[in-house]
This record gives sequence, structure tokens and C-alpha cells, in this order.
Amino acid sequence: MTRSRAFLVLFLLAMLAAIGALVHAARPDAGPDHWEKAAVPPGATLAQLLPHADPKAGEQLFKRCAACHSIRENGPNLNGPNLYGVMGSQVGRNSARFAYTAALQAVSARWDAARMDAWLKGPRALVPGTSMVFPGVPSPTERADLIAYLLTQGGH
Ligand code: HEC
Repeated sequence: MTRSRAFLVLFLLAMLAAIGALVHAARPDAGPDHWEKAAVPPGATLAQLLPHADPKAGEQLFKRCAACHSIRENGPNLNGPNLYGVMGSQVGRNSARFAYTAALQAVSARWDAARMDAWLKGPRALVPGTSMVFPGVPSPTERADLIAYLLTQGGH
């Protein structure tokens, strides 16, 4: 290899490294892969996941829910009830004008993080007879992101 060719190869490698660094730096903090940076052990509990959960990622994931749920304040009921303020509200009572199933109304509890996690994992496993025909979100980290997002939408 001549010296100029070796120089060219080195130059190209340096360019590639620079482009790689730029692409990496341009990556937004929020997003589904924010979990790569969070030091959560495999099989982490909900309590371990929630401090790292990202409402922005949850907002993206909420697209899976938006066909049936509005979430803005005073938003309409669709196939499912409006979800503004659902975290902390009574199960099966968040929207005054929605025709909930008797099964969901019979759950006398509030939507805390643990209950919401179980619901999002498998609505029909938690409340047999519910009309929420949604298979559930299998990923624990995605459920944590969704809960973080719900908490930002009038929840407590
Ligand atoms: C195919 C439509 C559909 C999809 C998709 C859907 N839901 Fe629902 N959801 C419903 C229906 C219908 C109900 C009312 C269930 C009942 O009365 O048994 C409901 C109820 C709920 C409730 C209870 C509200 C209350 O007042 O207690 C929550 C919370 C909820 N959904 C969250 C979600 C989230 C978060 C997603 C997305 C991950 C989602 N749902 C996806 C239809 C859907």
C-alpha cells in the first residue's frame, strides 16, 4: 500500500467515526431505547422500572390506545372511556357518561400503578368480562412508560 493510499484509508475511517459520533449525539433522550441507558436488572419489578419510565415514550405507545381512548381533558368517549385523570380515579368510573361493564364497575379500587400495570398486561385476565378488547402490552418497560404518560395526563 502506498503512503497516500494508507492516508486515504485512515481518513475514511476517521470520517466514519465522526459520522457515528454525530448520529449518536443526535439521538433524542426520550424514546423506546431510553431503557438501554437505564441500569435496570432483567426481571426488574415495577417499582424499579417506574423511576426510569419516560412519559414521552409512553405518549408514543399511547397510539395503540388512541383508536378507542381520547385522553385530553373533557375529551370524548370513543369505543372506550376518556382517560384524562384516570390514574388515581375509581376503577370503572373515570368518565361519567361512559357505559362501563358491570364487571369493571364491580372492582372497587383505585387505579394505582400496580393495578394499571396488571390491567395493561392483560385486561381480561385482571377483569374477566371487561369489554376492553385489547390483548395487552407484554413488555414491562413499555407498560411503565405508559403509566408514566398516564400520570402526566391529569393523573395522580
Ligand atoms: C379496542 C378498543 C380499546 C383499546 C385499543 C384500548 N382500550 Fe382501554 N378500554 C376499552 C373499553 C371498551 C373500556 C371499558 C371496559 C369496561 O367497561 O369493561 C376500556 C377501559 C380502560 C380503562 C379503565 C377506565 C376507567 O374508568 O376505569 C383504562 C385505564 C384503559 N382502558 C386503558 C387503556 C390503555 C392505556 C390502552 C392502550 C395500551 C387501551 N386502554 C387500549 C377499549 C379499548
